[in-house]
Formats: sequence, C-alpha cells, structure tokens
Amino acid sequence: MSNEWPAKPAPTCPVSGSGQEQESPPRAAPLAPGRLPMVGHVWPLMRDPFTFFESLRRRGDIVLIHIGRRPIYVLTTARLAHSVLVENARYFDKGMVYEAVHPLSGNGLLASGRELHRRQRRIIQPLFHKDMIRAYAETMSGEARKLADSWRPGQRVAVDEAMVELTLTTLVRSMFSGRLPRSVVTDILHSLPIFTRGMVARTVLPAWLCRVSGFDRRFLDAAGRLRSAVDAVVQSDHPDGVEGGNLLSHLRAARDPETGEGMSDELIRDELVSIMMAGTETTAATMAWTCHELARNPAVEQRLRAELHDVLDGRPAAYGDLPALAYTRAVVNEALRRYSLLMLFRRATQPVVLGGVQLPAGADVMFSQLDLHRDDRPFPEPDRFEPERWLADRESLPPRDAFIPFGAGNRRCIGEGYAQAEAVIALATILGRWRLAPVPGHSVRRVAAAMPRPNSLPMTVTAVANQGGGLSHV
Ligand code: HEM
Repeated sequence: MSNEWPAKPAPTCPVSGSGQEQESPPRAAPLAPGRLPMVGHVWPLMRDPFTFFESLRRRGDIVLIHIGRRPIYVLTTARLAHSVLVENARYFDKGMVYEAVHPLSGNGLLASGRELHRRQRRIIQPLFHKDMIRAYAETMSGEARKLADSWRPGQRVAVDEAMVELTLTTLVRSMFSGRLPRSVVTDILHSLPIFTRGMVARTVLPAWLCRVSGFDRRFLDAAGRLRSAVDAVVQSDHPDGVEGGNLLSHLRAARDPETGEGMSDELIRDELVSIMMAGTETTAATMAWTCHELARNPAVEQRLRAELHDVLDGRPAAYGDLPALAYTRAVVNEALRRYSLLMLFRRATQPVVLGGVQLPAGADVMFSQLDLHRDDRPFPEPDRFEPERWLADRESLPPRDAFIPFGAGNRRCIGEGYAQAEAVIALATILGRWRLAPVPGHSVRRVAAAMPRPNSLPMTVTAVANQGGGLSHV
C-alpha cells in the first residue's frame, strides 16, 4: 500500500521571479462553500473542525477558506505540507500563530522570528539530546510511580486531569528540579486550558470577536500571570552547577557555539514558558487518549499488558527499557496519529507557487495534521486504532513524510524525544500496575484545542495482578 502514496507527483514551490516557475499557468484554489459575510468560514471551523477539514480534503489539495475577511489556503495532502515545512521552509514564517502566542511565549522558540530562532535552536537543541533525556527519564518514571502509588482499587480517576498534572509536574521538575512553589503549579494547571483554547480562538476568530467574547482578556491575564511567575523563579534562582542540574541551569550555562554568547534572563523566561506551553497538554492528551483507546480495544490492551508483564513485571519503567517496550511505543505512535494537532500555520514571506497555485506574499497557509493522518492511502482503515501498523517490516511502514505529529523541518518539535520517552515510560509504569476502565454511560468527545483533548475522561482503576505470565485484575 505504501508505494501507492503519494498518488500525484510532488509539487514544486518556486518563488515567482526566480526563473524556476512551473510551466503550466498557475491555477486558482477552489473556494470552500459556506462563506458568510464578516466571519467567513469561522463557524464550521469552530463548531466541528474535524468534519470541516475532512470536507475540505474531498474538495482538493489546496482549498481557499476565509477567517473573517482573511483568506487562508488549506493544504490537504502531506506532500504539500512537507513542501511548506521542509523543502520550501525558507519562503514561510509562522504567521498567525506568532501573533496568537507571542504575548505568552515572547521570543521563545515557539514563536521566535527566523534569525533569533536559528541561534536559540542551536543553543537549546543539546538540552534535548539523548543523554539529557536519559537523565529526565528518572523524573518521568519517579513521578509516574508516585501517581500510580496514590490510586486505590475501585477509585474513579479523572484521567485527563491526572495526565496534565503528571506531565506538568514532570516538566517542572526537569526544568527547575521541582523548585516551583505549589501555588504556581496550581496556577499553571488552571491557566493551561485557557492558553490552548485561547490559542485556537485567537488564531481562527477575527480579532474583534476575540475582544468582545472575552477570549483575549482571559488569555492575556493568564499569560501575564504565568510569565511573572516564571520570571520570579528565574530571577530568584541562583546559578547552580550544570552537573546534575536542571533545564534552567543548563539554559543559563548554554552558549552559542559560534559566538560564545549566553542568554538574558528575559529570553530564558521566554524559552521556559515556550517549553512549558508546548510540552504539557500535548503529551498529556496523547497519554489520556492512549488510555481511552486501550479501554476500547481489548486485544490491543491484552498485547500491551503481556509486554509490560514480560519487560517490567510490576516495577516502574526506566530509560533502558525503551527498546524492549516496542509494542507500547507502537501504541503511543498510534495515539499520536489518531489525535494529532488540529492545525499548523505558516505565512508566505514572498510570492510563491505552491502545488500550482499562485500565493501572494503574506498569504496564510494552514493544514491539519490530525486530518492528514486520516488519509487512507498511507494509513489503511484510518479510523481503526491499530498499533500493528507501526510494527510492520520497514518497507511496509507508513511513509515517513506522511506521519508528522511533531511537524517537520527546522521548526520540528524540539521535545519529540522527551515526549515519546515520557509517554512510554509513564504509561508503562502506570498501566503495569492499574487497569483503567471507562465509566459506564459517560461519552467521551474530542474538544477542539490546539491538541484535541477529551471533554473529560473519568475511568475506574483496578489493580493488575501479575501471575507468572497469566494476567488478571483484582
Ligand atoms: C505529544 C507531544 C507533543 C507534540 C504532538 C508536539 C508537537 C509539536 C509540533 C507539531 C511542533 C511544530 C510546530 C510548528 O511547526 O509550527 C512543535 C514545536 C515545539 N515543541 Fe512540541 N510537541 C509535543 C511535546 C513537546 C514537549 C514535551 C516539549 C518540551 C519539553 C515540546 C516543545 C516544543 C517547542 C519548544 C517547539 C518549538 C520548536 C521550534 O520552533 O524550534 N513539545 N511541537
């Protein structure tokens, strides 16, 4: 199946005037139906973005929509997304997302402009190197064990909230060795949904609607509180030795390999806020959705449990277990595929021809990773939760460019290795001890946040008894 994809030849994306223009004249992108005066296509996008993106995919590979009066070109194939993120990344910047998150993440990696981004990425990349993740993994395992220890048989747990708290606590410990006051952690937990919902709203709603609906005020208030909390920690924190230190101490010590320059306190604050914002709800949602899917797919759960029993036999998972936890990794990969980010944006910095469509300088481009991962050419039966698709022989695996939960190119997620290690280690540690069953009668829906999350996910926990290879619960 994989060699049938892509069905069309890869598009080119030459810059007009570069002398490399495509031979056939540019075509116009079809306009999506349902555009309303003033708001454009905002209602279908806000009401049910999942169905809206699917409907656009059926219309063509580039479809024009409007957010308010602003035209947006929606890309519906992974090939075009790859063209924008990788092959022609130099013609695009972050655009609308920059405007939406800048008040929160400032000049941090998430939204920084090209030059600063290049420098900061060079400095920060080593902090997410394998050896560093090995060190963070002890915290990942320890925090997951604490959570597993705190549950009692028969307890009803809000798994969505538990996962957000777990990922945030783990990240805070990796960043500051746990020195963030509890009140600040609580404040962040309270603010996170305001950011992720606010981010979508501030990106897709016309500015006037954000103002009158109160989204802007709530987002900016929460952003101000979080920035000053992290500021206070950065300023009060004395530089400690790098050895055995935390992410903050590494950021202080980091130097640009080319110029030898370090970072100001403000920039360190922006980077920490960026990481906190990008790394918490994303990983938490992946773990929560994994629990949800396991409960709906008994055969998958059984195979996972057999692996956890063989590899861990009830003990917490460690970094060294990752290679042996192949099925758990495949389960997490499949959750990443089924529940990816809702939308990514870019803005053309100069006129470009993309997939045969002429885009003017300043044109906004958007695609939904979640929808791209439902393309049935690289992912047969895309609505099935099937971890086995990630365990096939190399040549039968889904093509690498079709699966981009962490983005691609120079803005690819810096925390990819961290997130994957955390999801596998934490889930293996928790699920090695507990079985999570859905609460009867509760229906779980996807909420359209930056990373879609469950509306709520109450589950009842039952202790797993490992009995010499046979598995049961008590
Ligand atoms: C399942 C979890 C995660 C997913 C699905 C995810 C996804 C992504 C994606 C798609 C991007 C690229 C955005 C773009 O191109 O516009 C990104 C960027 C980023 N992510 Fe993640 N992420 C996850 C976890 C993390 C974690 C754990 C951290 C940090 C500990 C992190 C930190 C960042 C940062 C700082 C950026 C900006 C990178 C840059 O522009 O250089 N992410 N993430």
